[in-house]
Amino acid sequence: MTLNQYIPTNLTKEINKGEAIWTSPSNIALVKYWGKKKHQIPENQSISFTLDACKTKTKLSYEKTNKVIDNYSFDVYLDGEEKLDFKPKINTFFERIEVYLPFLKDYHFKIETSNTFPHSSGIASSASGMSALALCLMSLEKELNPEITQEYFNEKASFLARLGSGSASRSIEGDLVVWGAHKAIEGSSDLYGIKYPYKVHDNFKNYHDTILLVDKGEKQVSSTVGHNLMYNHPFAKTRFKQAEENITNIKGILETGDLDGFIALIESEALTLHAMMMTSMPYFILMKPNTLEIIDKIWAFRKETGLHISFTLDAGANVHVLYPEKEAEAIYDFIKTELVAYCQNGHYICDRIGFGAKQL
Ligand code: DP6
Repeated sequence: MTLNQYIPTNLTKEINKGEAIWTSPSNIALVKYWGKKKHQIPENQSISFTLDACKTKTKLSYEKTNKVIDNYSFDVYLDGEEKLDFKPKINTFFERIEVYLPFLKDYHFKIETSNTFPHSSGIASSASGMSALALCLMSLEKELNPEITQEYFNEKASFLARLGSGSASRSIEGDLVVWGAHKAIEGSSDLYGIKYPYKVHDNFKNYHDTILLVDKGEKQVSSTVGHNLMYNHPFAKTRFKQAEENITNIKGILETGDLDGFIALIESEALTLHAMMMTSMPYFILMKPNTLEIIDKIWAFRKETGLHISFTLDAGANVHVLYPEKEAEAIYDFIKTELVAYCQNGHYICDRIGFGAKQL
């Protein structure tokens, strides 16, 4: 599947050497992407909050090689240390995107990257990492063709990022991003994420996400394995339909500021994601006892106080505690006194909604 609109035709400038630096954030899905077709096409639509504090900074230095090479020429560093084990994933990414960036083999690249969150925090760096790299490569494309518009730049950056990691397509812009063609969301596409185009109530401005690091180990199930579990899954069809309905429903919730509706929808999404893993073959339980302890405590506190604290999960044991700005003080107090005890070594990250990637 090759999409002609992303194949550049006008790379007129000669660029021998240069660099680009981008920071790109992580994101947390409210309606989850789980299941994909060939070529990184999602089985269902998803929507996410772009995060602010959790991000990757990537510097891409490039220099023309002036020789014909068969393989991509690049070195990759994390926090100043060469990471040979990152190379296969980047190589696969380059293979997928070369048709859209035909200059990839003309250059030697040095990729220097660092994350604001610890590498071993259980927070996936693929969304922020792949989007940061895609943006750096787009900066090189813009050097080669200064005519490209900002709109094309962002759309193609998201398109390329998706080919590295699906959720990375949602990390270019903020504060809410939809990925996957949906009839109720104008302009939405399976190929790239778009900034959520409708009115969002003030209740959802500056929403908080405190990430409780329950298990900082390596992911028990890689996303590739995870998505594959949805092939021949007995509940897959119903799940994909449910996600589609949830996107329709969240539109009304976001517009009216319906916090109770929001909580019911996102918690159900989080538990459904885990239910899909528990009911696949092979099956997995990715929550830990402390994940459940935290969920229990959140529910009890919500019942007792009427405050709008809620949670979501990604494909692991960590808990994202989501809450509105106007209740932040009381809820953050509760998190510190009651929930942090369930975190591995007491570690957690305070984050909130952010506004997308930035060029430095
Ligand atoms: C559970 O984007 O990591 O976080 O496309 O294989 O790289 P790949 O998968 P990835 O999957 C993320 C799954 C999720 C839900 C979500 O972010 O929507």
